[in-house]
Amino acid sequence: MHTVRVELGQRSYPIAIGEQLLQPEQLQVFLQDIVKSRQVVVFTNETLNQLYGGQVRKALAGRQIDTFVMGDGEQFKSLQTYQAAMDFLMQHRHNRTTCLIALGGGVVGDLTGFVAATFQRGVDFVAIPTTLLAQVDSSVGGKTAVNHPAGKNMIGAFYQPKAVVIDSSVLSTLPAREYAAGLAEVVKYGVIADADFFAWLENNITPLQQRSADALAHVIQRSCEIKADVVARDEREGGVRAILNFGHTFGHAIENLAGYGTWLHGEAVSIGMVMAARFSQKVCNLPQEQTQRLSALLAAFDLPISLSEPASVTDMLNAMGMDKKAADGRLRFVLSAQIGSAWVTDSFAADQLEDVLNEFCS
Ligand SMILES: NC(=O)c1ccc[n+]([C@@H]2O[C@H](COP(=O)([O-])OP(=O)(O)OC[C@H]3O[C@@H](n4cnc5c(N)ncnc54)[C@H](O)[C@@H]3O)[C@@H](O)[C@H]2O)c1
Ligand SMILES: [Zn+2]
Repeated sequence: MHTVRVELGQRSYPIAIGEQLLQPEQLQVFLQDIVKSRQVVVFTNETLNQLYGGQVRKALAGRQIDTFVMGDGEQFKSLQTYQAAMDFLMQHRHNRTTCLIALGGGVVGDLTGFVAATFQRGVDFVAIPTTLLAQVDSSVGGKTAVNHPAGKNMIGAFYQPKAVVIDSSVLSTLPAREYAAGLAEVVKYGVIADADFFAWLENNITPLQQRSADALAHVIQRSCEIKADVVARDEREGGVRAILNFGHTFGHAIENLAGYGTWLHGEAVSIGMVMAARFSQKVCNLPQEQTQRLSALLAAFDLPISLSEPASVTDMLNAMGMDKKAADGRLRFVLSAQIGSAWVTDSFAADQLEDVLNEFCS
């Protein structure tokens, strides 16, 4: 087992990473120092409850254990589920010392974190992320939320868990598309923060395609280290944390225009990163060869690197929160002048952005 710490003063916490960490004996040892409460609630969905719920409950034996099972899918990251969760906690007489355990992907994690942040003004929670995306991204950093019909993640809080437990073995049951989507965020860390890690990914495509335990251990650890470091420097995204959004301004627009559910988030971010790289070539001279390396790596992981259908440039600009007139600035982009580093800027020319959009939308 390897531990990465998120350093946030009194809110610091460990991320335990290893194989078979969800085996009840192992998990019990790890959790005994963290879950002091006599009452726990396992938050999960139908899929994960069936796969791993039993072993997590076994590791928590000796306590009052309740299980809140939500529906599987982004549409359940909702105020309705939040309300149902609150009702559940009241009905089962949970109190301020209760500890919530989030067992699932980013949907379960975000919802559980928000419930934990607000039930009785805040109770402990432990994250057990089960998708690659949740293991390398959403479980680290304390962003919690539910969606509103008007927009994703519109209702939420910054609220850190007491610990994160990452068992890479659970990825063996993850569908291929979900696995690839997680790899997109992994590639992102290489681009924004670590050229050596990027090169390591290029040299380990086959083991990663095969979900080799050793390769995954390295990928999860390095990704968590990079995210933990950025979050420690800027917990509430006042500055540097925004570099984690590399490829995301384009990606969100792609997700949005295609209709949520068409692309997985990581897939849209994959295309968005290639667009951000092309944009970086124009604005800050990222070498063309580095865009090619990025595209090749993403494609090797079976990720999309271009739109599957033509799109309207105007629609894309609108989806990015910018009409054509406003296109000469203000909107902020994460750019990279070289693989391994990134920064946020609003200084670019409108035609540079439109050139990129024209190239990808046609
Ligand atoms: N808080 C943050 O910082 C942050 C960052 C990125 C994304 N997010 C959020 O995360 C959510 C997406 O999370 P996600 O990509 O993990 O999707 P998800 O939680 O919907 O999980 C994807 C699918 O995989 C299934 N699954 C999960 N683990 C499995 C396993 N081990 N074996 C078999 N099936 C498994 C799930 O049941 C689900 O059907 C979005 O709501 C997004 O907004 C949050
Ligand atoms: Zn993302």
